[in-house]
Amino acid sequence: MNLKDLYINFFIEKGHKEIPSAPVVPENDPSVLFNTAGMQPLIPYLMGKVHPYGKRLVNAQKCIRTNDLDVIGDATHHTFFEMLGNWSLGDYFKEESISYSYEFLTKVLKIPHKKLAVTVFIGNAEIPRDEVSANLWRKQGIPDEKIAYLGIEDNFWIAGDSGPCGADTEIFYWRSNEEVPHLFDPEDNRWVEIWNNVFMEFHKSPDGKIKELEKKNVDTGMGYERVVAVLEGKDDNYLSSLWINSIKKLEEITGLSYEGHEKEMRIIADHIRTAVFILSDYAGIKPANTDQGYILRRLIRRAIRHSRTLNIDQNSNWEEELAKIIIDQYSNYYKELEVNKETILTELAKEKTRFSKTLEKGLKEFAKVISNLEATTKKEIGGKAAFKLYDTYGFPIELTEELAKEKGFTVDLEGFKQKYLEHQEKSREGASGKFKGGLAGDTETETRLHTATHLLNAALKEVVDKDIHQKGSNINSERLRFDFNSDRKITSEELIKIEELVNSWINESHDVEIIEMNKEEALKTGAECMFIDKYPDVVQVYKIGNISSELCGGPHVKNTKEIGIFKIIKEEASSAGIRRIKATIS
Ligand code: SER
Repeated sequence: MNLKDLYINFFIEKGHKEIPSAPVVPENDPSVLFNTAGMQPLIPYLMGKVHPYGKRLVNAQKCIRTNDLDVIGDATHHTFFEMLGNWSLGDYFKEESISYSYEFLTKVLKIPHKKLAVTVFIGNAEIPRDEVSANLWRKQGIPDEKIAYLGIEDNFWIAGDSGPCGADTEIFYWRSNEEVPHLFDPEDNRWVEIWNNVFMEFHKSPDGKIKELEKKNVDTGMGYERVVAVLEGKDDNYLSSLWINSIKKLEEITGLSYEGHEKEMRIIADHIRTAVFILSDYAGIKPANTDQGYILRRLIRRAIRHSRTLNIDQNSNWEEELAKIIIDQYSNYYKELEVNKETILTELAKEKTRFSKTLEKGLKEFAKVISNLEATTKKEIGGKAAFKLYDTYGFPIELTEELAKEKGFTVDLEGFKQKYLEHQEKSREGASGKFKGGLAGDTETETRLHTATHLLNAALKEVVDKDIHQKGSNINSERLRFDFNSDRKITSEELIKIEELVNSWINESHDVEIIEMNKEEALKTGAECMFIDKYPDVVQVYKIGNISSELCGGPHVKNTKEIGIFKIIKEEASSAGIRRIKATIS
């Protein structure tokens, strides 16, 4: 039996219910693009909501972390990984948690106990030193010299800046063949962290205040890839049983050996695996220029670029061969891989074709930019050149930055942003111009839906409650989807009123104005805004008559009459306290 099954079965025997992995795209949390930890989809329950499966849960959660792509290519980092976790929602606490972990490691996995060491929280002004956990470890037979007390950076866990949190105890494994030293030194990298048990008894609010939660929870996390490699005695995760088939396939495709080409092969294997999982998600993400779609695009394009450095023939179906390995390997656990197989393979191939068409020319253009700079003393690629690479050759700005870095150059990101905004403004004008001629394509429809979203937001305030605000939004060429706070269903009478109000505003032919102002100033005017930290210091406020004023990157139509007829097709619950409306235009 593999580690995943052993883990899940062990906790089922201890009275836990297995919950399915949540999708990679969070359904309830518009503040993050992907789930980055096993506990993320469980936040409402860690905060006290009753979970339908009970108080003891276990699962393997699909997680994606793409904040630092630069580290991918080393032996241990991945953009997608599975996190094994067990939870107590106000049920057991430190004692059972520690004894379950110890029993699983020493009895099920049969790790000799001298190869284990732990860290516990040293304490600070607010939270006491965690002698309780230390004593529980001693009771299990972990000697004092294998228990280290560390501070808030190491032994306190919170996802992001606010939310449920608490001190944790981390378990380390001696992975070297050398003699286990008498004293545990957490800095010695022959000790690897394999499991993190967080004792979630606090809540940190965005203003930094820490308050006790009503119930004490346990949240543990074990990085599957890492632990499989460690247990198989591999220093390089990509040589473990989870990756070896992808690596072998890459060796076969390229005719090269892994040794000497580790970095490229790891990047390709990693990025294709993550792309496969994103494409398989029920959220229906496709490569795009915004949000999750943009991350997906960057991953695929980065894999393609590295595949070229290994001289992989872009006319072959190399990406399909790699994707199939992932689908076969994981579809037992994640049915969506099999169900969405065709979409995965088609989208990968489409994105490869799109990018391959311009990549070669783009690389030539890039070389020209560099050689022009080399003739000067400048070390920075200008915003205009970076924008041309983005716009004409499809280079995500991060790709240009990466290529520049390899050559010892930087990129003028501010200049790039400026060009990007100017371009958006131009295409906005172009889009509405074209629409008048009756040529509405996907982008035009999305632009119209975007403005309709602002009107919907305003109408909800007027018809239902002035304190309604946007909690999430998603637009495709078919419909808009708008999430907002409300603790009750919107009645059908209200929905009719909202629809009528939006349509009347559309028919009143209001101009959509863009006003640039400083962020503070914009907030003072009462402009609507979802995540203030996400915006630069100078922001654009889109104003529609006296109806709506919102901080937004656009694009929008020039006049509301371009929107057409607005129709609400669905109103439903999205999560606790959040409702969702889907609407179309015609
Ligand atoms: N949330 C903790 C982590 O991600 C334990 O699951 O490490």
